[in-house]
Amino acid sequence: MPSSPLSRPEPFSVFTTPAFWDDPHISAQMLALHLDPDAVPASRPHAVIDRSVAWLVDVLDLHPGSRVLDLGCGPGLYACRLARQGIAVTGLDVSRRSIAHARSVADAEGLPAEFRRADYLQDDLGHGYDAAIFVYEDFCVLSPDQRAGLLRRTRAALNEGGAVVMDVTAAPRFDHEHPGVVREHDLMGGFWAPSPYVGTHETWTYPELRLVLDRYTIDTGTEVRQFCNWLHCLTPAEVTAELVAAGLTEPELFGDITGAPFDPTGPTFAVISRTAPS
Ligand SMILES: C[S@@+](CC[C@H](N)C(=O)[O-])C[C@H]1O[C@@H](n2cnc3c(N)ncnc32)[C@H](O)[C@@H]1O
Repeated sequence: MPSSPLSRPEPFSVFTTPAFWDDPHISAQMLALHLDPDAVPASRPHAVIDRSVAWLVDVLDLHPGSRVLDLGCGPGLYACRLARQGIAVTGLDVSRRSIAHARSVADAEGLPAEFRRADYLQDDLGHGYDAAIFVYEDFCVLSPDQRAGLLRRTRAALNEGGAVVMDVTAAPRFDHEHPGVVREHDLMGGFWAPSPYVGTHETWTYPELRLVLDRYTIDTGTEVRQFCNWLHCLTPAEVTAELVAAGLTEPELFGDITGAPFDPTGPTFAVISRTAPS
């Protein structure tokens, strides 16, 4: 980090993820990115989502009447594809704008999908699911304590033998992250606020944890807001230990959420873990 009065925060000391996703200005832009079939900041490309959903249906043996929980469903890109096959999906998301979009698609097509605005870290997840999906590495924006609580509550929401499927940011990804700071007028072209502002983007790394923080400070002249995006790059052994501690089985490992073979050098991997007999 160049000489600067800015200082590295304690790991996971500030959590702003729900505020980011539900902000009226930011959420409009994130929804547009979700719905762009080729953009990657919000969701994977839609062609990849098509392949993911085909794989999930196959590997989880989903069929009409199966019940799936989609944690952080966004505008329902996975949930609506599953529901078009008769699978009953409950999608939870903290973004009002994304939930409204998902509901409008499901209502227009008469899909067996329910979308609820909820914070999956504290709100009711429901129960009786055959599977829970948690897609686009969102597990890795959470602190270890948040992950432990969410996994325990997800396990409790599943039927016996039910599965959790999620993709994870892998340890090798950390090697591509470097500390730095950028300060610009209207940083990222007006992404952060409607009015003119000065935006500061700091990247902090914590090599001992393989943790990255991207912190954005947005100063409009009348208000200063901060958004902290954490990214914890994890090994399969670390994820396995967290799953097992939550009452889930040692996972099957895959290279990604389309079921590619696991690659120990890859930037991501996916897991399928089931409820362990209690
Ligand atoms: C990277 S997007 C992925 C969306 C979707 N899974 C996909 O791949 O298309 C992360 C989503 O998680 C939601 N989210 C983040 N934190 C959340 C929380 N605590 N509770 C519920 N939803 C949350 C965001 O609103 C956003 O829609």
